[in-house]
Amino acid sequence: MRLFSLSFSAIVVTALVAGAAGQLEASEAENHDYSHGEEAQMFVHGAPENPTDAWTLAAGGRIYDNWWVALDRDEPEGTHPSYPATGKKDGSTTWRCKECHGWDYLGAEGVYRSGSHFTGIKGISEAIGMDEAEIATTMRAPTHGFTAEMISDEELARLAAFVSRGQIDMANYVDLATREIIAGDPDSGRAIFQTTCAVCHGFDGRSLDWGDEDGPAYVGTEAVAAPDEVMNKILNAHPGVEMINLRVFGPDVAGDVLSYIATLPQE
Ligand code: HEC
Ligand code: HEC
Repeated sequence: MRLFSLSFSAIVVTALVAGAAGQLEASEAENHDYSHGEEAQMFVHGAPENPTDAWTLAAGGRIYDNWWVALDRDEPEGTHPSYPATGKKDGSTTWRCKECHGWDYLGAEGVYRSGSHFTGIKGISEAIGMDEAEIATTMRAPTHGFTAEMISDEELARLAAFVSRGQIDMANYVDLATREIIAGDPDSGRAIFQTTCAVCHGFDGRSLDWGDEDGPAYVGTEAVAAPDEVMNKILNAHPGVEMINLRVFGPDVAGDVLSYIATLPQE
């Protein structure tokens, strides 16, 4: 709630300052700032009274993606103590599960086997089917050090459910060596995209742009550049914004959508 009012006032200020110059849209895109109203706060950061498994797994997946944005907490300061000194990242991003374990959950054996995200840390696929209470305990232990102020017990249970039961076999959809999309029916994906995603992303996927001065980032751009990441976004939604997710329909349907959005304009 607090974070919401903060970013809301930031928007108002930006609007006042930049409105006349017509720069609001550009500055919003730069900040990736998609503030939502009070009514949406519960959908984006809260929980339903009687959560289904589909809801829980997607919510856990968003915590895996970026827990402080998903949960509306303070951004962590400094680099995570377990992030290796040889790694190329620093600061808050090193506190994201995905930064150490990958979008494909395979850590150093998957897409992050080399490149700017390489850490040498293994993945979490061995934790598939593991006791969820045990996973939660691991998250509080020193290697991870996630406190209850960062992720509450209830939220940790969602994350543990995702780790134990929500991981998919990314290699079925994406070639983890070349990062090419290797599955999916783009015609089915087109039907889903046009009737659901397009309300926000536009029929050509260009209504939302989270790019920077180096170029635009549309769903089409992202699907080609980082299909494993986009599978996570489709199955769990992007944290901290009003977006639907396709968790309930399973990974094959998400793979259909992925294969279609990769055909949309990239710039
Ligand atoms: C800064 C790096 C880092 C971050 C961030 C991180 N981990 Fe880990 N994680 C590790 C290391 C290191 C290990 C131990 C790997 C080993 O045993 O070789 C580990 C192990 C695990 C394991 C056990 C895997 C197994 O096979 O037993 C799970 C599950 C796990 N992490 C989940 C998570 C989740 C969920 C998050 C986010 C809340 C997270 N990790 C964030 C570094 C990290
Ligand atoms: C109700 C609006 C809404 C709907 C419906 C929606 N999205 Fe989104 N989506 C967003 C917003 C807002 C963002 C945040 C963009 C940003 O990061 O600036 C986003 C982000 C994304 C991102 C990635 C952002 C990143 O930074 O990596 C992808 C990929 C994506 N959406 C795909 C989809 C797909 C595929 C569907 C349909 C299954 C969909 N979205 C449906 C609103 C929506």
